[in-house]
This record gives sequence, C-alpha cells and structure tokens, in this order.
Amino acid sequence: MSPFLLTRTLPVDATGAALRADVLSGLTRHPKTLPPKWFYDARGSELFEEITRLPEYYPTRAEREILQARAEEIAAASGARTVIELGSGSSEKTRHLLDVLPELHSYVPVDVSESALTGAAESLLVEHPGLSVHALIADFTGGLALPGTPGPRLVVFLGGTIGNLLPEERAGFLRSVRSLLSPGDALLLGTDLVKDEETLVAAYDDAAGVTAAFNKNVLSVVNRELGADFPLDDFDHLAVWNPRDRWIEMRLRARRALNVKIRELDLVVPFEAGEELRTEVSAKFRREDVREELAAAGMRLTQWWTDSAGRFALSLATAV
Ligand code: AVJ
Repeated sequence: MSPFLLTRTLPVDATGAALRADVLSGLTRHPKTLPPKWFYDARGSELFEEITRLPEYYPTRAEREILQARAEEIAAASGARTVIELGSGSSEKTRHLLDVLPELHSYVPVDVSESALTGAAESLLVEHPGLSVHALIADFTGGLALPGTPGPRLVVFLGGTIGNLLPEERAGFLRSVRSLLSPGDALLLGTDLVKDEETLVAAYDDAAGVTAAFNKNVLSVVNRELGADFPLDDFDHLAVWNPRDRWIEMRLRARRALNVKIRELDLVVPFEAGEELRTEVSAKFRREDVREELAAAGMRLTQWWTDSAGRFALSLATAV
C-alpha cells in the first residue's frame, strides 16, 4: 500500500478560468477589488514566507507559540486518527501536532498548490514512516470530497486565513466545514485578535517594504497570466484598519490617472489619480465573535487558547 496519494479535484485549467472571472468582476466594479488568493504564485508564496519572519508580523510566531505549548492538550482533546488540514502549504506548524497524536493514522493536506503538497508530504513521511498521507489539490472554499480515512477527524485551519474571507463567505465556509464533521470530530481554527491599530497596521505595512512587494505582486500575476500592463511603480501600498468591520484592508492606490489594458479579457480598466484597489481584508476577532460565528454554523467552541501576549487565538470546536 502506498503511503502517499495525491488527488486532484480541480481541473488543470480551473485556476485560469477563476482568475479571469475574478479579475473581470473585481476590476469592473466600484470600488475595485481583487481577491487575496491571487497573491500566491511562486514569488508571492516566497514573499509571504518572508513576511512571516518580519519583526512586525507577529501572527505566525504567536500561533506557533500556542501550538508548541498546547499540542499535547489539543491531541488529547481530539484523539484524532485523521488530521485534515485546509490550506496546508508547507505543513510546517502542523508538525507540532502530528508529532504528538498517539493514534494518528492519516494526514489529509488540502491545498491548491501541488508543489507545496508534494514537498510537505515528502518531508513528513521521513519523520512519520507509517503515516498515510492523502493530499488533495483543491480549493478549500468549495465543497470537499474527503477520502474515507478513520475517525475521529480533526479539521485544522491555521494562520488566521479565515480572516481573508468576507463575513458571508466565512459563514458559508464554516457551514461547509461543519458538514465534514461527524460526532466526535473537531475543528482547530486559528484567528488573529483585535488589538491596537498601531500594531495591526505595522504588521501589514512593514518598514522593509516586504508587504508592499507582496501586495503589488498580485499585479504581476495579472500582468503575466492575463497579458495586462499594470505599471507597478505607479501604485502605492496601503494598509488601513477598518474599525467598523474589524479588519485590515490592503489597498493599492494609483499615483496618477491611467488606463490598464488586459489583453486576455479584451478590457481596458481606467484608474483615476488616487483611486484605490482593495486587494485583501484580514479580519481580526474577539472570543465572542468566534463563538458566535461557530454557533451560527452549528459548532460549539469548546477550548480557546491564546499566546502569552494575547495577540492570536486557537479555537477548538465540535459539531452540535
Ligand atoms: C495568510 C491570511 C494569514 O492575512 O495576515 C500577510 C496574509 N497579508 N500580510 C494575513 C497576509 C499581508 C495573511 N494570511
């Protein structure tokens, strides 16, 4: 029996079609928007890794601190035989958990990046030779068909990535996660927490300009994939705290009036001088928000852990 299986649930051309649809709808509306998932080509993924090492960007370190401190508790509470990780990337933080689950049988990493999945599986299998890894190339925001691995299951969604979904998208996503849970299964969810504006804005507008480069990378992706001619130097990076919605917005502001041609869409997109394009929201939560959103999706918050500085939280929830 092979310990590593890779299943593609996305058609090979799905990404191209989805990018075209998102760019067309996002750049022909007011205000203009682009979804954050298009940051992550090879260059964007590298820049994100660099962001996680910046002094201003605390979420990754805070979440790792919680996982390291609480791995045994999480393992005991879940008793999981299968760990399903949504948006698994390099699976780097999850290792702390996989290492301490005594009954672990299967790991199901789900990601849109095939290279991330095979790379993570390769190194995981070195440390856990008996582990069965069934990787899924899939967009976790759609419905998931999971392999028939043994329960109890622990669904893991780390990094605070849930904050990149808009409230209605979050509600739909949490309902689809709920539909994966049988009695005895659990969800482990990472959320960044509301804190002072200065700390939040600095985390998304670092002094070294890495986040600015990450933000502008979405324009390079559209230029390359859709034959567009966004002049990157004519856009400024902005990080704005929106206290009403409790989220950070990343925006790109046109320095001058310009027309962007998008060849593959046969489209010209006009920007006024100073016009802003929203490229990401990153929502921040309070314990009550998480509890309510889980409850609305049919789950109960059973444990809540934060890092010692109270910046980030991991929640454990079960189906009700
Ligand atoms: C990948 C969603 C965790 O929202 O903090 C980092 C992405 N954007 N800097 C976040 C990101 C700007 C990040 N997550």
